[in-house]
Amino acid sequence: MSKIPRHVTIIMDGNGRWARKKGLDRLYGHKEGVESVRAVTEFAAEQGIGFLSLFAFSEENWNRPNYEIMGLMELMIDAIAAETPTLMKNNVRFRVVGNLSKLSDTLKAKIGQTEKLSEQNNGLNLIVFLSYSGKWDLLQATGKYAHEVLKAKENNTSAPELTPDYFDTLLSTSGIPDPDLLIRTSGEQRISNYLLWQTAYTEFYFTDVLWPDFRKNDFQKALDHFSERERRFGKTGDQINNLN
Ligand code: FPP
Repeated sequence: MSKIPRHVTIIMDGNGRWARKKGLDRLYGHKEGVESVRAVTEFAAEQGIGFLSLFAFSEENWNRPNYEIMGLMELMIDAIAAETPTLMKNNVRFRVVGNLSKLSDTLKAKIGQTEKLSEQNNGLNLIVFLSYSGKWDLLQATGKYAHEVLKAKENNTSAPELTPDYFDTLLSTSGIPDPDLLIRTSGEQRISNYLLWQTAYTEFYFTDVLWPDFRKNDFQKALDHFSERERRFGKTGDQINNLN
């Protein structure tokens, strides 16, 4: 029996190198990367994966050349517009997580429309991390807690106890289960300020395949790897297998 992860998250990397190898502009790599997004979304739905999340643009990516940022944002607007009917047909719920204040009004509007339209869908949850960083998320959650503490002081009550479960509710990923499997393409083996808190027990899978080349067979290999892993969450193997 193969184990299917509930939440798979992907750091899509290598678009620029893919384009360079072909003598093309980096934007062609991102364009082909959208084809990979379509393929993995289809595959995740077919496999009965509950949550598929994709790291599409980090806070640090705002430092890229302006033409690349503009090109990527346009690509996202076009991709969301073009794919929304397919997402609806396939019962996919679409959500975007990140520091959205920095996005253009057009992109924010497009995101809002598709999120609202797909809100009641109960098949695959597709989450796109945009303008996101793990440190940003931890800081905004900490800010919320500081606010709770001040409010409690003013009202002469006590602030909620700061437990891991409570902190989860303050993160921008509140309500989304932690990833079981993280895939990073292009041979890099770093977390790059992605989901820092949420990947405490996540299995990591690295592949040399560049994102624009990543297709269903590559996704299947990552799932096979996951299926072979034994996740212990700090316990012994015997405890996990109920042998003691
Ligand atoms: C990393 O490759 C890729 C990105 C920063 C952008 C990924 C975004 C997409 C594929 C568009 C997604 C669209 C939707 C709607 C989810 P890189 O440019 O860092 O590659 P390099 O390391 O080879 O330079």
